[in-house]
Amino acid sequence: MAKGIVIYYSRSGNTKEMAEIIARAMNEADLPTDCKSVDKVKAEDLLTFDAIVVGSPTYYGSMAGPIKELFDDAVSFHGQLDAKVGAAFSSAANIGGGNETTIMGIIEAMLIAGMVIHGDPQGDHYGPVSIGKPDRRVRKQCIRRGQRIAELTKKLHS
Ligand SMILES: Cc1cc2nc3c(=O)[nH]c(=O)nc-3n(C[C@H](O)[C@H](O)[C@H](O)COP(=O)(O)O)c2cc1C
Repeated sequence: MAKGIVIYYSRSGNTKEMAEIIARAMNEADLPTDCKSVDKVKAEDLLTFDAIVVGSPTYYGSMAGPIKELFDDAVSFHGQLDAKVGAAFSSAANIGGGNETTIMGIIEAMLIAGMVIHGDPQGDHYGPVSIGKPDRRVRKQCIRRGQRIAELTKKLHS
């Protein structure tokens, strides 16, 4: 059976809250999904999941160091994440503060690893973004993203 993981880095809890909403939506859409802080994940663990969703606070318009380190460590098995489903999300302090560039940085790493990325024509196109603590709009986007990732993963990997 296909399974997923949501991995996040979070200092003040905003990205963690988004991660938990996304993971819950994935589980409720029948894709068994773990939700873990990046410090509890080894790069090799990624090999065991069919969907890998990664969230980071926006740091200088880019992903936080521990998330980058996870991707850097994955070079030791480069090519083996091929065709897994990927998605990204980010929390920033400001509109225009770089949350979409952060998401695109994560997606770039996933594409280089061969992963499949699902855009969204109606919701947050690249992945859910929050300004500070997730509000009602963001929570809806996280649920929507979790559902879409679960459905695509079940189609591709069941
Ligand atoms: C080192 C550092 C760099 C940051 N850079 C940005 C930035 O470029 N743009 C922005 O909008 N917010 C920036 N922030 C704010 C965080 O992205 C924001 O507070 C986020 O919601 C924190 O997420 P967390 O609660 O999951 O830790 C930065 C914060 C830190 C600590």
